[in-house]
Amino acid sequence: SDFETILLDRRGRVGVITLNRPKALNALNAQLMGEVVAAVEELEQDPEIGAILITGSERAFAAGADIKEMQPKTFADVYAEDLFTQWDRLSAARKPIVAAVAGYALGGGCELAMLCDFIIAADTAKFGQPEIKLGVIPGIGGSQRLTRAVGKAKAMDLCLTGRNMDAEEAERAGLVARIVPAADLLDEALKAATTIAEMSLPIAMMAKEAVNRSFETTLAEGVRFERRVFHSTFATADQKEGMAAFIEKRAPNFSHR
Ligand code: HXC
Repeated sequence: SDFETILLDRRGRVGVITLNRPKALNALNAQLMGEVVAAVEELEQDPEIGAILITGSERAFAAGADIKEMQPKTFADVYAEDLFTQWDRLSAARKPIVAAVAGYALGGGCELAMLCDFIIAADTAKFGQPEIKLGVIPGIGGSQRLTRAVGKAKAMDLCLTGRNMDAEEAERAGLVARIVPAADLLDEALKAATTIAEMSLPIAMMAKEAVNRSFETTLAEGVRFERRVFHSTFATADQKEGMAAFIEKRAPNFSHR
């Protein structure tokens, strides 16, 4: 793959996307947005890939949308191109996506992390929605996903003051699944992604779909959806294999079917 602003690596069944514009702290310009989306869609199509990991550098996961690229645009420009709509294609991905965040995850960087299914943070991570300081508001879902993740009080605090929160506060608030020492971030995140990728792929996809449904529907409808999908797991070879392996006291050998 001839990407210029990201690196794409296959580590076993995990596709690792590393944001790679170090001089701009991985600011999300149009090229990087297009490349991340293309890489995720390539990994989605690859039957050998069971999970995706998105990470940045030690200093920054991403310091936001590219301010230099955005600054001269007019309303007519951003409306006509529907600026940032391409990022919605990440939320359409069906394979699990883990974000490994060290350093700054600000603005669009925080929003990209929240587009992933869960966040593993280094103890150096800093999250925020500082758009208000630039005279704009979040535009890649921050006002919606942050509010669902941390509740109104903290979402309002972050979106209105533009302050950052550190990894500890982010974990306490429910934005982050786990915190690890910065030196271990990639290992730990890869371990988590590998664990997921070694599960049955269709079952992992169903689990992701079921959790995501809770954001879109009532509790009763969500539970009904879960029950039906749970029933459909019995149509897979991997349900037979997973349960047989338990009974026979051995590791399962999933065929991803
Ligand atoms: C373009 C950026 C950038 C960004 C950093 N850089 N963030 N370029 N867009 N979002 C560039 C700097 O211009 C600089 O380039 C280089 O990266 C290093 O950054 P410094 O500021 O010198 O580093 P430091 O002093 O360590 O400060 C780090 C920082 C700061 C606190 C993260 O860079 C910062 O505040 N960045 C902007 C954060 C932000 O506002 N993000 C939200 C963006 S809006 P040069 O060439 O000068 O050395 C957004 C909108 C989403 O995401 C959708 C709604 C519109």
